[in-house]
Parts: sequence; C-alpha cells; structure tokens
Amino acid sequence: MSTFNTAAGWALAGGIVALGSSIVMSEVFHAERPETMGYVVEGVVEDGGGEEAEMSMGEALTDTSVTAERGENLFGRCASCHTINQGGASGIGPNLYGMLGSQIAGQSGYDYSDALAGIGGSWNWDNMSDWLASPRNFASGTKMSFAGLSDPYDRASVILYMNEQGSNMALPAAPPPEAEAEEGEEAPADGEEAVPAEDEAPVDDSAEAVDAEG
Ligand code: HEC
Repeated sequence: MSTFNTAAGWALAGGIVALGSSIVMSEVFHAERPETMGYVVEGVVEDGGGEEAEMSMGEALTDTSVTAERGENLFGRCASCHTINQGGASGIGPNLYGMLGSQIAGQSGYDYSDALAGIGGSWNWDNMSDWLASPRNFASGTKMSFAGLSDPYDRASVILYMNEQGSNMALPAAPPPEAEAEEGEEAPADGEEAVPAEDEAPVDDSAEAVDAEG
C-alpha cells in the first residue's frame, strides 16, 4: 500500500512538473513568436547576402532572367502596402508611381519616418537597390517593415518594373566587357554571305546555258 502511494505520489508530482514546464514552455514560445513573425514577410529571406548585395544593377540587368514581368510578379510582395498606379492612394506605404527618379520621402501628404525623411537626394537604380536589399540597413528606424530582397536579380526586376510605372529613367550602364568580342567575331559573318553569292552564279549560268541550247 505504502509502495503504491509513493509511486502514485511520484507519478502525480511528475505530472505536475510536466504540466508546469509545458505551461512555461508555451509561454516562452508565445513570447518569442510574434516578434519573429512581425518582421518576416512571406517568401523573403532576412538580411541579404553580403556578397550578392555588391552586384551593381547595371550588371544584374544584363542577366536574361531579369524582366519587368518578373518584377511585376515580385511586386505582389509590396502590394499589401503599396499601390503603383498613377494617382493611386497611399496605403501603409506611399504610392510608388514614378518613384524612381523622384525625391526620397517626397510624397506630400504621406507621413514618413524621420529615418527615411533624413536620407535626402532622389531615388536612382543603385540606392533603390540598397533600400530594397535591406530597408533597415538603408534607413535605420524606417517604418517599412519589409525584410528585403536579397537576390540582386529580384531587385533589378522589381526596379525595372517600377521604372516602367511612370519613371522611364535610363537604364544603368552595364559594366565594361572583359576583353571579349574583340577577336574576329565578324569574319564568319562575312564568310557566310560570300558563300551563297558564289554558289548561285554557276547555277544561273548553267540554267541559262541550257535555255540557250534548247
Ligand atoms: C509591410 C508594408 C510594406 C511592404 C511589404 C513594402 N513596403 Fe515599401 N514602404 C512601406 C512604408 C511604411 C514606407 C515608408 C517608410 C518610412 O517612412 O520610413 C515605405 C516606403 C517605400 C519607398 C520609399 C518611398 C518614398 O517616397 O521615398 C519605396 C521606394 C518602397 N517602399 C518600395 C517598396 C517595394 C518595391 C516593396 C516590395 C519589394 C515594398 N516597398 C514593400 C511599407 C511597405
């Protein structure tokens, strides 16, 4: 009997401890979860890769995967906070029509953070890329709670799309080619043209010769 009671007592005590710690654990998780989720926007990797961030937009734009269409699709991640149609309303973030090339934090009637308002200058390909790579690094204290686009091709695509919505800025220059295309690239083209021209002549001649004989 006493052995049973002791065993039951331990089982009970164990249960209470287990229950207690599961309450503690769930409180810990509850406390941690909202913080993480508040920052992470779906499908976006936090903190862009340092090396990739160095790629210039001019270079990224030479990649065939970079298209305004890809940018338009990616803009879906921005659309929860931004409109980009002409005269569109500001939402959580300001309307982005014609944003590239215009003043940073310059939309009258939109209440910017001091962080972004203090940057100065206007948006161009490169600072827009830095901003979209990590808004928090670009303007520490910004209220744009978007983790960033770590892929430079994603950024180039989004900016290309934005550029088509009322900006039409010149594309940034591609980096100078590295000693390619200098060597005799034109020779084969000349050759190709020369061959059919020579081939045709004898055929025409013989055809005429046959006609003349008959
Ligand atoms: C969670 C909401 C949210 C998302 C998602 C978001 N933004 Fe923003 N965006 C903001 C807010 C808020 C601001 C104003 C920031 C400030 O004042 O600090 C802003 C500001 C900007 C600005 C500066 C506007 C100006 O007038 O200078 C640009 C450009 C911009 N966002 C582009 C984008 C793009 C492109 C995406 C998608 C890749 C995006 N944002 C995703 C909320 C968002």
